[in-house]
Parts: sequence; C-alpha cells; structure tokens
Amino acid sequence: MPENYAQWCGRSGRLYKSHPDNVPEFPWLGALPTAFFEKLLKPEYRVLEHGCGGSTIWLAQRVKEVVSGAGDDPAWNEGTKKKLAELGLTNATVLDAWPVSPQAWGKFDIVFIDGGPTIFRNKTLRDAFVYYVKPGGWVILDNYNHKVHDDAFAWAKSLSQTTITLKTPKTRFCHTAFMHVPNE
Ligand SMILES: C[S@@+](CC[C@H](N)C(=O)[O-])C[C@H]1O[C@@H](n2cnc3c(N)ncnc32)[C@H](O)[C@@H]1O
Repeated sequence: MPENYAQWCGRSGRLYKSHPDNVPEFPWLGALPTAFFEKLLKPEYRVLEHGCGGSTIWLAQRVKEVVSGAGDDPAWNEGTKKKLAELGLTNATVLDAWPVSPQAWGKFDIVFIDGGPTIFRNKTLRDAFVYYVKPGGWVILDNYNHKVHDDAFAWAKSLSQTTITLKTPKTRFCHTAFMHVPNE
C-alpha cells in the first residue's frame, strides 16, 4: 500500500495503472476523490459497487460488507476474487453479473458506479436511486462528465440533496461525483 494518495497518483495527477494478476489495494480514482470517499466510509456500512478492482479490496478493508456487481472484464473479476482470498477478506462478494437483485441483497449505504460497459451506466445510475441506495446514503459516479451520463446525471442531481464533484487534474475523465440522497 502506498504511504499516501499522492504517491500512487503522482504529482501530475496521473492514475495508477495495474494488471489483474495483481489487483491493487486502492481504487482507480484520483487522489482527491479517493480521500473524500474514505471520509464517507463507516465500519458498519454496506457498499454496492458496479465494477470491481482495487476499490473492492480497499472497501472491504474499511466497511462491513461489499457487494460488487462485476464489470465487463472477466480477468479483473477473477483477479479481484483472487486478491480478496489472498488477503483473507471474506466480507466482499464479487458477483459475475449485473444487475444485482435488490430483493436478494437489500439496500446499501453507498452505491459506487465505476464499471463498464459504458452503455449500461445510465441505467445503473437510475437503478441506484430507485432500488439500491438507502435514504440518507450516497451514490458515487466516476467519470460523471462522460457524455453517456447526460440525461441520467441531471436526473440524479435533481433527486440529490447535495452533489459534490471532484476533478482529477490533467485527466479527461476520472472526475467523480458524490450525490447525497435525502433522508425520507
Ligand atoms: C474504471 S475501472 C474501475 C474498477 C474499480 N472500481 C476500481 O476502482 O478499482 C473498470 C475497469 O477497468 C479495468 N481496471 C480496473 N482497475 C484498473 C487498474 N488499476 N489499471 C488498469 N485497468 C484497471 C478493469 O477492466 C475494470 O473492470
């Protein structure tokens, strides 16, 4: 694990690239979004993510339960499962498909959307608000500025109490939106 976020992102703000044979223990996000994300986490939280990877490991080390609906890259899905097993992390489940059944898995304190394929991400964002997030929870969307999100992101922001957007310097994407869902 790097000593701090700046170390893995580098001074230029470039993002750490890795290989699924050795999934890192931190998310593929910029330094500032990662630091803000970490502040939101509580040990009793349940987190749902779309798109597994280093984030799955990092979350499993910080919250009670992680359910990760796998992204579109089987090598990363397998690599993430392998890393979880190596580290003895038993509180994360990497499912081989998306969507995750709301009936089977219930509601989550945080829903983190960071997987492919891109064409499904609008639906995933809408489903996060309709099915998955608890009142008072957070929906986190990476690459929110991608044009594929135009309609759903505007809709999601209209349902949010607050939306915080954090940009990663010198990157086109890797800008992350944190949407706080109102209490009932
Ligand atoms: C946008 S990434 C994010 C995955 C995960 N949420 C995370 O933060 O680690 C989605 C896809 O990119 C690839 N990927 C994930 N982490 C990577 C990394 N550190 N370096 C290169 N590719 C990565 C995998 O194919 C993965 O399914």
